[in-house]
Amino acid sequence: MAPSILITGASSGIGKALAFELAERGYSLALVSREGELLNEIRQEIQAAFNPPAVAVRVLDVTDYDDVFQAVPEMAEALGGLDIVYANAGIGLGERVGRGDFEKARQTIEVNLLGAMATVDAAAAYFLEKGSGHIVGTSSVAAFRGMPKASAYSASKAGLAIYLEAVRAELHKKNIDVTVLYPGYIDTPLNNMLKNRPFLISVEKGAEIIARLIEKKVKSSTVPVYPWNVVGRLMKLLPTGVIAKM
Ligand SMILES: NC(=O)c1ccc[n+]([C@@H]2O[C@H](COP(=O)([O-])OP(=O)(O)OC[C@H]3O[C@@H](n4cnc5c(N)ncnc54)[C@H](OP(=O)(O)O)[C@@H]3O)[C@@H](O)[C@H]2O)c1
Repeated sequence: MAPSILITGASSGIGKALAFELAERGYSLALVSREGELLNEIRQEIQAAFNPPAVAVRVLDVTDYDDVFQAVPEMAEALGGLDIVYANAGIGLGERVGRGDFEKARQTIEVNLLGAMATVDAAAAYFLEKGSGHIVGTSSVAAFRGMPKASAYSASKAGLAIYLEAVRAELHKKNIDVTVLYPGYIDTPLNNMLKNRPFLISVEKGAEIIARLIEKKVKSSTVPVYPWNVVGRLMKLLPTGVIAKM
């Protein structure tokens, strides 16, 4: 039987494209985000194009932490079981430090770090009960080096990556895999206002690579793998003056 996956932030960008990619591969899908109407449209498009075994949708704000813990088992029941939970929902607000942007920074940590942690915690509870599972989280190459005008974003993604490493160790021998993805620039509404997007790939290509990495159950990977696996290491070595111009 084809696997089933819950994707947070499935109404746009990577989450939406991955839903189409995995539907084509025959997965059952549970799609959540804050935009119920968009999710219903996506469900109809997916059913018309690929007719996967099941597509369930549900409104979920990942910062409504109590609701995250209700949504995971609810979606599992809707699909007759879940194999993969992908904590993908995220925001990038371009916050600047010392310029009255603290509210943006707070929101960024709430969605990208705490919202993802709630999703992972709820998934772990479900998978521990079930005896198996696969948790996937979207970090970013911004986790490799704190980026200007994205301080909270970088912190949220570095925090999530370390959190997922810890979760992997804590769930070792529990038959639960943990994958951390570090995308570079994938063309989505999150970043399409930026002037400079090095090594940009289309969202369809990004979704295809992510689907392959999920199916291989890699522990961690940049997206695309090359050149970001090399550039990511170099980013850690660049002088502050170079990073400051980015
Ligand atoms: N695109 C890139 O180059 C890139 C690079 C590195 C990492 N990432 C990460 O990849 C993930 C997806 O980003 P994207 O590029 O696909 O951006 P996107 O097109 O803006 O999509 C973001 C998704 O997150 C959802 N979301 C935002 N706030 C939410 C909340 N409070 N509760 C639930 N869902 C929420 C949005 O849905 P609703 O508005 O419907 O709730 C939307 O579906 C993010 O974590 C992002 O940081 C992206």
